[in-house]
Amino acid sequence: MPALDHIGLDIGTHSIKAVQLSGSFNGPVFVAAGQIQAPQISGDPNSNESIDKIADAIKKLRSEVRITKDKANTALPESQIFTRVVEMPLLSQKEMQNAIVWEAEQYVPVPMTEVKLDWQVLGEANPQGRVEVLLVAAPIALVNRYLAILKKADLVPMGLETEITSVARALVQRVSGAPTTMVVSIGASTTDLSIIRSGKISLTRSIATGGIALARGVAQELGFELDQATEYMKTYGLDPNSLEGKVMQAIKPIFDVIVNEIRRVLAYYLSKHPDAPVKRIIVTGGTAKLPGLVIYLAEALGLEVQVGNPWEGISLPSNFSQKLNEEATSYAVAVGLALKQAGG
Ligand SMILES: Nc1ncnc2c1ncn2[C@@H]1O[C@H](COP(=O)(O)OP(=O)(O)OP(=O)(O)O)[C@@H](O)[C@H]1O
Ligand SMILES: [Mg+2]
Repeated sequence: MPALDHIGLDIGTHSIKAVQLSGSFNGPVFVAAGQIQAPQISGDPNSNESIDKIADAIKKLRSEVRITKDKANTALPESQIFTRVVEMPLLSQKEMQNAIVWEAEQYVPVPMTEVKLDWQVLGEANPQGRVEVLLVAAPIALVNRYLAILKKADLVPMGLETEITSVARALVQRVSGAPTTMVVSIGASTTDLSIIRSGKISLTRSIATGGIALARGVAQELGFELDQATEYMKTYGLDPNSLEGKVMQAIKPIFDVIVNEIRRVLAYYLSKHPDAPVKRIIVTGGTAKLPGLVIYLAEALGLEVQVGNPWEGISLPSNFSQKLNEEATSYAVAVGLALKQAGG
């Protein structure tokens, strides 16, 4: 089994995280990790100025947490990628290539010349000889932007994948025989949903609601500045008993946008796959730490809800920092990227 020696780098809108592991996929060992606030980008995200700002933050993070390697795996944000599962006849590799382009043209709202297409066959053919195929179309401009950021940060770009792919590797695929699982990844700007069946990504969805929207709700309802509102959100969250439930009441309508999307996705999935219902939900991302979130979700959905801990199954040093432990949910993407094998 090849040794892990690529950095996992997650460039979020709120913070940039980096993780370095050694050992192997089946026996990973912690080396270093950390996060740094992401620079605020106003204007064109593809401008040299924006790219430089992010690259500078990455360099600073690398020196602060003493990450020694320079080969990096990174992930593209789900919200900027077109992903869909389509059903197709089982074809030869070459025929598949043409058929995929045709399929992608049907739903990707930009010209095929502007995207990089990737696909993966999910599972076996059904009795009608058709297979499910996961299609991923990434805008070439986005890919180039990520490559430019890494180069500017003196890193060597290695694997590039989607955030959901990384999170699935960190939280679901390391455990063999995991039941059909929905992963809900709540970041600052977006929430990504995915369903992982038999270790494969079977559905993805991204919505533009995350921690920032929740904090804005608190700011608006309780008349706070955003910073103070964020602190209230983090401290009281969805706990109905704190502050007479005032913070919860402010957050609830916005959080329910996420809950309703989860419901829609679960219902859609069940209609397509009545034989493989979702058995549990794993929540991750920085906003997964919202107090009261697990109980709220479990009650709203009637499903088992767990908070995913990407450090689980990794050999940690005895002086592993309390901070990294507390911020575990923030590191799922970066850990998944650090667990990606060269060429895998
Ligand atoms: N204890 C907490 N309770 C609730 N929310 C929290 C807590 N701690 C951090 N957050 C929120 O988590 C968010 C940051 O999470 P994360 O690092 O996953 O975002 P990101 O990856 O930068 O964002 P995105 O993926 O959306 O671009 C912020 O909105 C922050 O307010
Ligand atoms: Mg993120």
